[in-house]
Parts: sequence; C-alpha cells; structure tokens
Amino acid sequence: MVTELQEKGVSRRVLLKELEAQLSEDLAYESGRILGSMCTKPHSFAAQVYRKYIEKNLGDPGLFPASKQIEREAIQMLGSLLGKTDAVGHIVTGGTEANILAIWAARNLHGGKQGDFIVPASAHHSFDKAADLLGCKLVRVRLNDNFQVDPAAVREAISPRTFAIVGVAGTTELGVVDPINELAEIAEKRSLHLHVDAAFGGFVIPFLDNAVKEHLEFDFRLSGVSSITMDPHKMGMCPIPAGGIFFRDEEMASAISTNFTYLCGGETVHQTIVGTRSGAPALATWAMLKHLGRAGYRKVLKRCMKLTHQLVAGIEEIEGLAVVSPPTMNVVGIKSDVIDAEILAQQIRTLKWAVALFPKHIRVVVMPHVKSSHIKNFLDDLKQITEALNR
Ligand SMILES: Cc1ncc(COP(=O)(O)O)c(C=O)c1O
Repeated sequence: MVTELQEKGVSRRVLLKELEAQLSEDLAYESGRILGSMCTKPHSFAAQVYRKYIEKNLGDPGLFPASKQIEREAIQMLGSLLGKTDAVGHIVTGGTEANILAIWAARNLHGGKQGDFIVPASAHHSFDKAADLLGCKLVRVRLNDNFQVDPAAVREAISPRTFAIVGVAGTTELGVVDPINELAEIAEKRSLHLHVDAAFGGFVIPFLDNAVKEHLEFDFRLSGVSSITMDPHKMGMCPIPAGGIFFRDEEMASAISTNFTYLCGGETVHQTIVGTRSGAPALATWAMLKHLGRAGYRKVLKRCMKLTHQLVAGIEEIEGLAVVSPPTMNVVGIKSDVIDAEILAQQIRTLKWAVALFPKHIRVVVMPHVKSSHIKNFLDDLKQITEALNR
C-alpha cells in the first residue's frame, strides 16, 4: 500500500497511537533479544539532553557558538582518552562518516592523487564506500591466525600509489585489535597516513583493566597514528547519530575544510560531509562524558566483560560450538565445525534472537542493555538448536 500525503492533518493523539501500533514490530533493547548490535539504548541522561537541545545546528556554528564550544570540549575529553587533548575533531553521524572523512583527508594531504589505501581484510565496509566516493583503490590484505592484520602483508602491499594505511582497534566481526604499534612504525617510515578505526574499541580499550590494555596501544600516543574514529553512539551510550573523528593536528583536519560566508553566522568552516547537522549528539556526548566520568564507563565495561565471560564459558560447554577466538572485548564470535554459520543464524533468528552473521560465525556483542538472564536464555536455545541439528 502506498501512503500519500493527505489534504487534512490528523491529531497528535491519533498519530501517536498509530505510531505506537506500527512500531511495535521493531525490536526493543529492553526485550533482551538484541544480541548482535553494536548500538544500545541511549543512557537516559544523554537522551534527556539530546531532546532538550534538538534545535541546535552545528552546521551554522556562527548561530550556535556556545554549542560549538561544547562540541570542542567533548572532543577534548575524548581526545584525552586517545592520548591527545588537542586532537582536532568533530562529532559526526557515525563511524562510516568518520572513516570516510579520514580517508578523504589522507587523500587530499597526499596531493589529492587518486591512489591506493591499504586496509585489513577485516575492515568495515565503510572503507569500500570511501574508496568508491573518493575514486581511490582499496587494497585488502590478509590477517594472521589471530585475526589481526599481518604487518608483513601491509608492507608488501605498499606501492608508490599508496597514501594511507588503516588499522582496526576492535574489528566489527570479532572485536580484535590490530598491531597498531607495528602499523604506526610502517606509516612513519614510509610517510603514510595511518588511520585507526576504533569506532567500537575507542570506548572500550581505555576502560579495560590496566594489565590488558597495556598490550593494546592504538591511539595518538603512537607517533605514527594520524587519525582515529571513535563512536559515542556505540559503547559511549549516546543517542544516534554520534560518531567521532579525530585528527592529530589542524593541518590534517583542514585538508577537508570548505570555507564559505553565506550563512547567518558569517564566515563558516565545515570539515564534515553533512552541512546542516544536529548539535544534540555533541551536547549529549559532552553530558555523558561528564556524568559518567572514567569511573562510570569502567563500571559499565566491567559488567559487559563479566557477561562476556559468562557467555564464553556457556559456549564452551555446548558440544559442537566454540568461540572463534578468546574475546579481547565484549564481542564474541561463535562457530561450529558441524553446523554452517548461516544455518545456525537462521535457526537462532527463528527463535527471535537478533544476532549478526559473518561468513564463518555468528557474532554477539554484549552491550550495556544485555543482562545475565538474556545470556542464559540464549545459551539454552543455542544448546537445543545444536543438539537438534547434531542429531
Ligand atoms: C569497526 C567499525 N567501524 C565503523 C563502523 C561504522 O559505524 P556506523 O555504523 O556508526 O557508521 C562500524 C559499525 O559497526 C564498525 O564496527
């Protein structure tokens, strides 16, 4: 049925009722069935701030200079987690926009030539979008046995056309952290831009136990790192759309600047893809960071990791199932030697569990909305399915 715009308006009450009825088919985080998403229910305080400041437009910062200043402060706080309070960045629409911005800047910094950039085989598909949009070639290179990019493969793939390397700190499929320190060395030696996609891991690694994160260097403390993606709308518990792009310095960020004067606020500089953009996500991010502080985020992550270990222990007890690799963060790949991942996903989805599917495994992300009882119920269903399929 096609919905055409009607001549006469409808009352708010009727429409709210209609929306509620129609939207009841959407999954809700509270149901506990969403186990495969990297997003979660926004924290109630972040949602409150977001709603209150819905009209702010950071695309016209001359009109909203105070909002712009709050965005700057949010970037500084996030920068302090990434080892550089004076990193230059923006709260953007998500990890996809942030990754495209990084590749765009790297390409322009290298004379705008339409060369190649190298990404791990595990890189998010936003880099395919970046390559297509920017007219560049993306070169995917192999992973090692731990599902990290193989630095030797990166070295082999570098050619005179290469302008950037990408490393991932928290891969989409398994939450694996690439050897960013080795990539940073390569990048420095070959004068290449190194972009670190920490869209998910950026809000995880800084809050892991010291002994664990010591081995997971990924940020501006490594001098070869040029830019980082880190998304508040994933483990930061901020409302969508809140991604984060960070450049080491203004020169890099200004490689994608457009300057113009027609807006009411006068002289304006944009360093994002979108023009008009809501300030609400930036204000919500600022409020969340201040509200939870480092201790609050550590607590959230500690709980997620505890449940992650509960899940892993449960998987190991189910005959025919195994985890793909011991999880570094709250992302778990589940595989089977006897059942095809696609069939496993199909069966578990029939039981109304929302999990992600990759070629050889299904993925669970233990986000803040997940409870111990959800994991237990999920494990019970997984056990039944595998037993039935094994029979
Ligand atoms: C590592 C990584 N980078 C980038 C993205 C893209 O983020 P978004 O969906 O916010 O655009 C994702 C999404 O899951 C991701 O896992």
